[in-house]
Amino acid sequence: MKSIEKANKLLTSFHELVNTKKIQAFDSKDGYKVGVDLGTSSIVLVVLDGKNRPVFGAFEYANVIRDGLVVDYQKSVEIVKRLRVQAEEALGFSLEAASGAIPPGTVGNNKRVVANVIESAEMVADQLVDEPTAAALVLGVEDGAVVDVGGGTTGISIFEQGQPLIVEDEPTGGTHMTLVIAGNHKISIEEAELIKRDPTRDRENFIICRPVIQRMADITANVLKKHPTSPIYVVGGASYLTEFEKEFSNYLDQKVFKPKYPQFVTPIGIAMSSNPIII
Ligand SMILES: Nc1ncnc2c1ncn2[C@@H]1O[C@H](COP(=O)(O)OP(=O)(O)OP(=O)(O)O)[C@@H](O)[C@H]1O
Ligand SMILES: [Mg+2]
Repeated sequence: MKSIEKANKLLTSFHELVNTKKIQAFDSKDGYKVGVDLGTSSIVLVVLDGKNRPVFGAFEYANVIRDGLVVDYQKSVEIVKRLRVQAEEALGFSLEAASGAIPPGTVGNNKRVVANVIESAEMVADQLVDEPTAAALVLGVEDGAVVDVGGGTTGISIFEQGQPLIVEDEPTGGTHMTLVIAGNHKISIEEAELIKRDPTRDRENFIICRPVIQRMADITANVLKKHPTSPIYVVGGASYLTEFEKEFSNYLDQKVFKPKYPQFVTPIGIAMSSNPIII
């Protein structure tokens, strides 16, 4: 099976679990793995089985991270704790450890903060992976580029033989799309965010946000100039709009793939990088 199809299957079943709050029964002898993604717009908790199949998922929208930095430590911990308790109630056992991710370029004490949030939420901090590496794990990218369009930034990572070769992060993300929608309709940011996520307004949103998407594609093109590669994958919640990858593809003049439920790619990859815990 092509790796994108495999990723889509995984993402679809994870999305169903998040929506239904149900758990997927699994073989406890293979153990389980946990990932926590502290994002600019949401915090996601993922539980996989030892064979990387989704078992449980939950998230909360949050405003506790900015530019890759934890700006509200206490609230971050509270949210991760709530998500952990939700998982434990559904699963019937306690989560021992979890992995986290850091945006590329995070240095020094800021790295430690993610581990500290996990530990303050009463789990052992397992792996600390960088976000693009987590995403590449889910997509099975050995050679190619992963463009992660999140809340605040567009992160471009170029991989060669499974290793990140070039990693860049530029401040244009989903928030900028919201601002453009707000300005266009002369409405508040909150109202604009709701409109942006309304699937019935997908086409209209795309037209309004097109200049922002082109800016993201231009950022990507500049990185690709240094090291042309293929295939290119777009992930992250801001890539949700139906025509997003087509616009990218036209701009870059090469094929661009987008998996289903692109906001869950990085969180699932974080969990994948964990060491299985045998119950
Ligand atoms: N259905 C949707 N349609 C359009 N945009 C969406 C949709 N769902 C989420 N988004 C946007 O995606 C962005 C968040 O993406 P994602 O969850 O990947 O970010 P994050 O991991 O929290 O942030 P970052 O990676 O920048 O730290 C937000 O701007 C949000 O408005
Ligand atoms: Mg993210």
